[in-house]
Amino acid sequence: MRWNARAYDSSFGYVSAHGAPLVELLDPQPGERVLDLGCGTGVLTADIASRGASVLGIDGSQAMIETAIAQHPGLDFTVGDGYDFTVAQPYDAVFSNAALHWMSRDPEAVIACVRMALRPGGRFVAELGGAGNCAALTSALLTAWREYGLAEPELPWYFPTPAQYALRLEKGGFVVRLLEYFDRPTPLDECPNGAADWVRMFAGALLDRVPPATVEPLLRRVNELAAPALRRESGWMADYVRLRFAAVRH
Ligand code: BEZ
Repeated sequence: MRWNARAYDSSFGYVSAHGAPLVELLDPQPGERVLDLGCGTGVLTADIASRGASVLGIDGSQAMIETAIAQHPGLDFTVGDGYDFTVAQPYDAVFSNAALHWMSRDPEAVIACVRMALRPGGRFVAELGGAGNCAALTSALLTAWREYGLAEPELPWYFPTPAQYALRLEKGGFVVRLLEYFDRPTPLDECPNGAADWVRMFAGALLDRVPPATVEPLLRRVNELAAPALRRESGWMADYVRLRFAAVRH
């Protein structure tokens, strides 16, 4: 996945804005060491730091980390692989907002790394897309691809059910203290072109395999298909479903 850090931050600032309740759940304390996994441009990392915690933000995208460093001087950020990262000193908490669903290849490896990064009793507080997340958006996408005779795209996300993820956490050495699964319809405020803009932003890599002349009509079709479910008088609404949890390392 290639990320455009500027577009992510301005047009899709809701990714960070919706993270505020998760920071409340984390409840970072002054002096705590907190690792923000999949920190993006570091907005929530900075929020956690403003409460007196010592933070490290890691993200797989060089572009995101460069923006985070530029926007939050004085905080620590580094490029890191969610499937394979290690830390020199254990952390009190690992935090992650809207990032774990991108680490779809091997969720167990991610959980194992988080466990290794925490001290015993340390907490893992995170939110990701849950089963059914973006169902109308992805259904419109898959239907449009099929109608245009394109090969079925492999969607790059992992949206587990609560039971699936709780089991992974327990097997991975965590006690699950809280697990919430809820709809969060999310206005696509900065997407004047609705579902098509969303596809460009979050599934842009899939468009690389589409003949250039087909991209525009294909995205127009995505919009037509998604509109009945997602277009309101007030604008477009993404059908987000969230899985939010707090777990503690054994
Ligand atoms: C999400 O935050 O749920 C999400 C964002 C982009 C693509 C897929 C899921």
